[in-house]
Amino acid sequence: MPIRRTSLLQAACRMVCTRSPLEGLMALSEIYGEAFWLTWPGFRALVAAGSRAARTVLLKKREHFRSRVDGDPVAQLFRRGLLVTDGPLHEALRREMEPFLRGPELARWIPMILRRTDERIHHWASRKRVDLLEEFRLLTLGILMESLFGLSLEDTELQLLAQMLKMAVAYISPGIWLIWRNGPRCIDISDLHRLDMQIRQWIQDRRKENRHDGDLLSHWMRCRWMDDELIRDQMLTLMIAGHDTVTAWLAWTMGLLLSHPGEMKRIQAELWSVAGHRPPCFEDLGHLPYLEAAARESMRLYPPIPIVNRMAGAPIAVEGYTVPIGTRVMIPIYVLHRRPERWEEASRFQPERFLRPGGVPTGGFDYLPFGGGPRFCVGASFAWMEGRIILIRILQRVRMEPAFGRLTARLGATLEPRGGLPVTIRDIREA
Ligand code: HEM
Repeated sequence: MPIRRTSLLQAACRMVCTRSPLEGLMALSEIYGEAFWLTWPGFRALVAAGSRAARTVLLKKREHFRSRVDGDPVAQLFRRGLLVTDGPLHEALRREMEPFLRGPELARWIPMILRRTDERIHHWASRKRVDLLEEFRLLTLGILMESLFGLSLEDTELQLLAQMLKMAVAYISPGIWLIWRNGPRCIDISDLHRLDMQIRQWIQDRRKENRHDGDLLSHWMRCRWMDDELIRDQMLTLMIAGHDTVTAWLAWTMGLLLSHPGEMKRIQAELWSVAGHRPPCFEDLGHLPYLEAAARESMRLYPPIPIVNRMAGAPIAVEGYTVPIGTRVMIPIYVLHRRPERWEEASRFQPERFLRPGGVPTGGFDYLPFGGGPRFCVGASFAWMEGRIILIRILQRVRMEPAFGRLTARLGATLEPRGGLPVTIRDIREA
């Protein structure tokens, strides 16, 4: 059924009032349910807004869809990066990456994560106020570069890299290009030249050094079928997909906990009884159900990747709609996570729901913070371990208060708190 003008107006009002296109989609899904066409001049996409439709696209009929949307800035930036390849190349790239990003061996990075978190906290001692969003960016970027690529970057190097990556992230963020493909852009791909040069330099250095470290970069060097350009594409993909997402998730979780002192108290009590003041270890992660529930709930309300895109690779029917080849299909994770008929008090922060029977809808495609089907996030286990270790360490050592008002979301390449996450530092306990 085509969308009526009045519904579009309703969606537009909600979008303007909340300053969030996601809330506009939410309004349409409340009227049109599982799936609907979103059409305006220059743009046409099927929105798979319900769990059944999402399952069809991501799992049941996945072979009819491609992840690469040719011409999108994401494909232009990542070129042949895992996120935007399909078919045998995608399978081969994923096979090389997966062993580095999952399993109990992830625990080997915990001492480094703790060291880097403590170093970050040390920077806060002389400052009254910090923006946690920016702090998490530097922290997660440092962790990613050291763990996956064996590159231990100093603070100033990280600041520089973070600046360059911010430009790359702005380049792929949703914008006017969605409806006006060749229209003017604030950032041109050539502005990202310095970032490219830096990545190529790291690859060349590693080739020269002939180091056989156990990291992913060294592993790629040994894969004969991977040339330097293909390695560049994977490195850039992981650098962006692996730090911007965790940054947003950590910021939302801290923001929500600081805005809900009762939940914060409960987590601190749980932490105290499991680890006290000592640095957390891998085993502790299995004994902190409330922290885990809060971390899941934060990703429900504010999924760092709020929309996943596909392109129909063949004509295909979804929920009774015929989707022509080459058509964009959007899976709005944000909407799935907030459907009032699937989630009780959907817009409230209630970690408890992940602990009580029936609190989470069954069926598997209502909660997709890491995506679904075979293209499930390759870095999910890594992120899940890293994020919780960082949270625990900060909650153990730092007392802070919110210096932000009501939390609202800004849609970029990821969903972030609008205006960052400024906090006032009250007290830092010695490590
Ligand atoms: C809280 C943190 C994270 C969230 C919420 C998240 C979310 C997602 C989602 C929703 C997808 C599916 C995209 C799609 O279906 O098109 C995805 C894919 C991906 N993620 Fe993550 N991610 C996170 C952390 C990470 C980390 C730490 C890494 C790398 C170290 C990473 C690397 C990737 C890559 C390479 C893909 C593409 C996988 C493929 O297409 O086979 N992500 N992520």
